[in-house]
Amino acid sequence: EAVDVVVVGSCMTDLVSQALRLPKAGETIHGHKFFIGFGGKGANKCIQAARLGAKTAMVCKVGKDFFGDNYIQNFKDNGVNTEFVGQTSDAATGTASIIVNSAGENAIVIVAGANMLLGSGELHKALPVIRHAKVLVCQLEISPQTSLQALRMAQENKVKTIFNPAPAIPDLDSGFYGASGVFCCNETEAELLTGSSVITVEDADRAAQELLKRGCGSVIITLGPQGCVVLEGKESTSKHVPSTGVTAVDTTGAGDSFIGALALYTAHYPSMPLEEMARRANQVAGVSVQAVGTQSSYPNRKDLPADLF
Ligand code: RIB
Ligand code: NA
Repeated sequence: EAVDVVVVGSCMTDLVSQALRLPKAGETIHGHKFFIGFGGKGANKCIQAARLGAKTAMVCKVGKDFFGDNYIQNFKDNGVNTEFVGQTSDAATGTASIIVNSAGENAIVIVAGANMLLGSGELHKALPVIRHAKVLVCQLEISPQTSLQALRMAQENKVKTIFNPAPAIPDLDSGFYGASGVFCCNETEAELLTGSSVITVEDADRAAQELLKRGCGSVIITLGPQGCVVLEGKESTSKHVPSTGVTAVDTTGAGDSFIGALALYTAHYPSMPLEEMARRANQVAGVSVQAVGTQSSYPNRKDLPADLF
């Protein structure tokens, strides 16, 4: 049976320490809480889409280790198709060491490990599911060439694509723009890619225009508490979609929650305006920032207002 959303991307075990502030170089500080969670920018999006009711499949690679075994179980527990979740003994399951401060901001070091071993062989095996999907979602944290190849495979089969260039790399292959139906990044990524600072809504509009010129179908730039800016390819002006003011306790993975929701809306409501999808995805992500962790904070459809669906 065809799936709605295929995510080709990363899985990380999140090792999270909560502290009052982020340490400086060379400094040791006390934190007050530690926990382990399921994360990774690819898997996070897939889990959020699944919790909102999408039929999902994940194409990824984990290690043949304890973290990898647990991760596969996590996908199963969330109803994600794991047929294309590979396990390798050549590298460890990816990890993300995360520090969250009292403002809910974070600093993250990832060791991608097994994620980097996902390549074209695995993509070809997954082609039968990719070509029948409604939308394919990619990000970085795996080999960029694998992401680009996956987006192109989707496009060749008329499958919609959403690309999130995170974590940002300054020398992003220009082929990504043309391969992105929706190019969705945050203010930091937009700044790195365009070379101009992105702080205000006006800055984001300018950056979105620049990214659109590079060949993407549409552009969304997320702006944290300021919501996001949506520039649809067929329009000349962007729309600002404000967020509903919430008090953030942990913003880690909020962007992934947003994109997971966007994927669900793209798959289930193909004629909905992108601006409306973004407005709803903002609300979903707004719920996620009010609880700690990444996937542990992602809402299920049944816990959300019915008017989001
Ligand atoms: O986007 C949030 C994610 O980034 C975390 O779950 C962590 O794994 C890092 O990859
Ligand atoms: Na959260």
